[in-house]
Amino acid sequence: MDWAKYRVAGPLSFDQEKCLSFYVHIPFCKQLCSFCEYTRMLCPDERSQNSYICSLVSDIKNFLQQYPDIVLQGFDIGGGTPTALSDDNFSLLMNEYKNVLSGLELTDDFEPSIEASFDTLSENKIKAIANSGIRRLSLGVQSSCDAVLNKVNRNGIVENQMQEWLSLAWRYGINKVNLDFMYGLKGQNNATIENDLALIEKLKPQQVTLYELRTNMITDKDLPSKQTLFEHYSRYYSGLLSMGYQASFGQNSFSVNASDMGVSSYIRHRMKEGAPYKGFGISAQSMNRKGLSYNVGKNSFNYTVLNRYSFEEEFTYQLPIGEIVAKYIAIAAYSGVFSISVLSSLLNEDARQTYSEQLGFCLSNGLLRQKGELMQITEKGFEYYGAVFSLFYMPIK
Ligand SMILES: C[S@@+](CC[C@H](N)C(=O)[O-])C[C@H]1O[C@@H](n2cnc3c(N)ncnc32)[C@H](O)[C@@H]1O
Ligand code: SF4
Repeated sequence: MDWAKYRVAGPLSFDQEKCLSFYVHIPFCKQLCSFCEYTRMLCPDERSQNSYICSLVSDIKNFLQQYPDIVLQGFDIGGGTPTALSDDNFSLLMNEYKNVLSGLELTDDFEPSIEASFDTLSENKIKAIANSGIRRLSLGVQSSCDAVLNKVNRNGIVENQMQEWLSLAWRYGINKVNLDFMYGLKGQNNATIENDLALIEKLKPQQVTLYELRTNMITDKDLPSKQTLFEHYSRYYSGLLSMGYQASFGQNSFSVNASDMGVSSYIRHRMKEGAPYKGFGISAQSMNRKGLSYNVGKNSFNYTVLNRYSFEEEFTYQLPIGEIVAKYIAIAAYSGVFSISVLSSLLNEDARQTYSEQLGFCLSNGLLRQKGELMQITEKGFEYYGAVFSLFYMPIK
């Protein structure tokens, strides 16, 4: 979809939003995995890291001056790999996070989260996370198989080392650890999935997230068939459930605690309500109920952009309702569930009427099942989940 015609002079307004989340993007990594479609670069020198943090913190402060009364319902620090920063710069980031939060009202379910990789952790960084009050740490594993990882320019981590890092995080009180795994990577098969499950059983993270390889902006040759992807997901699903993790079939996040959906409060509110968020840092996305924006660096990311004093919104779009609905459905799809009442409120009309044909088709063919006002993907529906969810993308009027 070409959005050029929806572009408006920025930035997005949050005047109509009381509750929203913040997302902070740290685009630095120790290595660049070939499958990754996020805005990221090899970690620059400490001075550039420092200036990057100072610029994004100044952006947050400016935003808060403009919107002093917001209530924060989530705060995710992601990337890239935030822990790729040096110890000093990482401590600075965590201290700034704490400072920003100290003056703000938070929702009762506020649950911040930070992303990391095992090969960039240090005890100082774990201490800094714990001191900041963040209690959810999300680490990428992707696969337990070195041969799979090496093909995508990623180093494997020895199991005992992973176990030691997790024990240390738990000792410091970071009591929710999520591990990311991917499927759809070259070389993954039933045997590598069994190994992944055995690793999860040993490490016992509180949460596991399964990502099907997305190939929007990278080559999709060598991608397994939809049938193979479905079988791989199904294997992970039954293995994780037999270990006590909870998720409905088709959900990509698994948790020992069903009530947290396996995600941070920022993602939970986006999945459940299509809630607004403000992104800080290079290329970060923001969204209100009428449109979205990308900060500078989305299309032209380089070291010059890195040293700016502000990462202001560069592309701001006022979107037609069809695009807003599609955005909500796309994020809700990760949980396998979407809400009729959220759709109705986005559309400003009864979604049961608007989508009577699509709902009738999906329910009568066993592709969706109804749970109160929620529509949940079935096992049969998940086999064709892209097609099922896209039935609910509204035609653009
Ligand atoms: C932004 S990364 C942060 C984690 C950390 N940088 C790492 O790799 O360990 C979050 C997660 O996105 C997932 N991911 C990255 N690229 C992906 C892609 N093309 N398709 C599906 N998932 C992807 C990976 O599982 C990764 O752990
Ligand atoms: S998957 Fe993680 S470590 Fe790899 S390039 Fe993407 S953000 Fe960096």
